[in-house]
Amino acid sequence: MKDLPLLQTKIIGRDLRYCESTGSTNRDCEKLANEGTPEGVVVIAETQTAGRGRQTREWFSPKGVNLYFSLLLRPDVELARAASLPLVAGLAVAEAVESLDAGLEPRIKWPNDILIGGRKVCGILCEMQAEAAHVRAIITGIGLNVNLREESLPEELHPRATSLFMETGRSFARTDVLAAVLNRFEPLYTRWQSEGLAPFLPAIRKRDLLYGTTISIDRLGDIVTGTADGIQEDGALRLQTTGGILPVYSGEAHIGTVPTIDV
Ligand code: BTN
Repeated sequence: MKDLPLLQTKIIGRDLRYCESTGSTNRDCEKLANEGTPEGVVVIAETQTAGRGRQTREWFSPKGVNLYFSLLLRPDVELARAASLPLVAGLAVAEAVESLDAGLEPRIKWPNDILIGGRKVCGILCEMQAEAAHVRAIITGIGLNVNLREESLPEELHPRATSLFMETGRSFARTDVLAAVLNRFEPLYTRWQSEGLAPFLPAIRKRDLLYGTTISIDRLGDIVTGTADGIQEDGALRLQTTGGILPVYSGEAHIGTVPTIDV
């Protein structure tokens, strides 16, 4: 995975830092950010010994089968816009998966998961460094299950996780999948910096897993239930509740009225 022959980007991934094994590519990328490394560097690992998910969860990172990588970004945007970056990254992953011509229909689950057939294939963890109102760096970590086999999944992940292999019975060259994600991400990221999320809302809407469904949002233990009414320009999920539309800026969305355990 040291070379990406299909990479067509100008900046993103041109500096690719590969390692066999690391704790977390997000941590490595954070270190590079602190050292003043310019944006665009991508850290990728064959396995992570302390892969991190959102809300202090672990990210299952078996060796040599999936993609675990982190992008160092230094967007020229105000703090408020940064919240919508995970959706841009999610859209890039979804479009890249569609471009593999494997008949897959990935869905975006607000705020930053990609699911296929109701099971999670990709998780995104964006971590921001900021000074006053200025974004210094956003570490965008992406875990994408590529050639993972069902039998390698820990039992607790069985009903909730999937991979490109599990969905198609086909193996994919991880370098090509990575190049497809980065190729797709770079133009979206450039446009997002100047125009925000608005131009992407129709593409997100087309792939929005939650739209029109009854969901519960866990906001640090406070559960709000309603119908998902899409995503708005600032990245918030619009929740139709009995009291009207509630924009939700953070939290975990669970389909149904009772929160379930997430992955
Ligand atoms: C989630 O769904 O909870 C987010 C998962 C993010 C996992 C990726 S794998 C590469 C990068 N390094 C990490 O430690 N986490 C992210």
